[in-house]
Amino acid sequence: MKVNWPERLWVNSPVRLFVQRQETLFFKKVRDMEAGAQCLEIGCGRGAGIDLIIRAFNPARVDASDIDPAMIRLAARKKRPGGIARVLHIVADAQYLPYPDGCMDAVFNYGILHHLEDWRLGIWEIARVLKRGGGFYFEEIYPSLYANFLFRRLLVHPRENRFQGREYRAALGDVGLKLLPGYKESRFGILGVAVKEGDEDQPGRLGTKEKVSSAG
Ligand SMILES: C[S@@+](CC[C@H](N)C(=O)[O-])C[C@H]1O[C@@H](n2cnc3c(N)ncnc32)[C@H](O)[C@@H]1O
Repeated sequence: MKVNWPERLWVNSPVRLFVQRQETLFFKKVRDMEAGAQCLEIGCGRGAGIDLIIRAFNPARVDASDIDPAMIRLAARKKRPGGIARVLHIVADAQYLPYPDGCMDAVFNYGILHHLEDWRLGIWEIARVLKRGGGFYFEEIYPSLYANFLFRRLLVHPRENRFQGREYRAALGDVGLKLLPGYKESRFGILGVAVKEGDEDQPGRLGTKEKVSSAG
């Protein structure tokens, strides 16, 4: 679900940039990555995360996706070293990622899963596109924050089928994403890194999309 204008103001603000910068430093501390990785950011918004990922992890390539073409236009406006060979901006729904299985070393989510009608499907897709041993770096927030008395009136988010920490952490485990120690969680949200487990002897460990997709 696209953001409305009050949330757009927030995500495009310098304060949001400061918060994302601190989060990226935290990600790096929890799990650093070798240079040259293939990364995907889902729900990239105006693209601040792209620069932070590049600076922190020096990847070979970052694919930055968002469902909102206006956000992608904004993100693509900035010229970055390496040009389109290094950063690809695409309009894509995080619930149906246009990538083959096991092609990414890392997927970044700066607060977008709570925008998905089917957030479990989003998590399933992240696990699907990650290589074994790949990292899922995330900031996610809970209804105690975005659906409280004030923000419920100000912002737009799906209302059904929401998650708190227990459901979110369980959903990661269901698709073979192991939460690394050191994550930070409060009743408002969670910040952490999870790693895709599994070995080559156990193909299909993730099961089918139907199994984990929420009923709605
Ligand atoms: C709260 S904003 C976060 C933007 C950016 N990641 C940040 O931290 O500033 C949520 C973003 O997710 C995008 N979004 C919402 N639903 C989506 C979907 N189904 N697939 C991909 N992106 C989506 C919105 O367009 C918006 O840019």
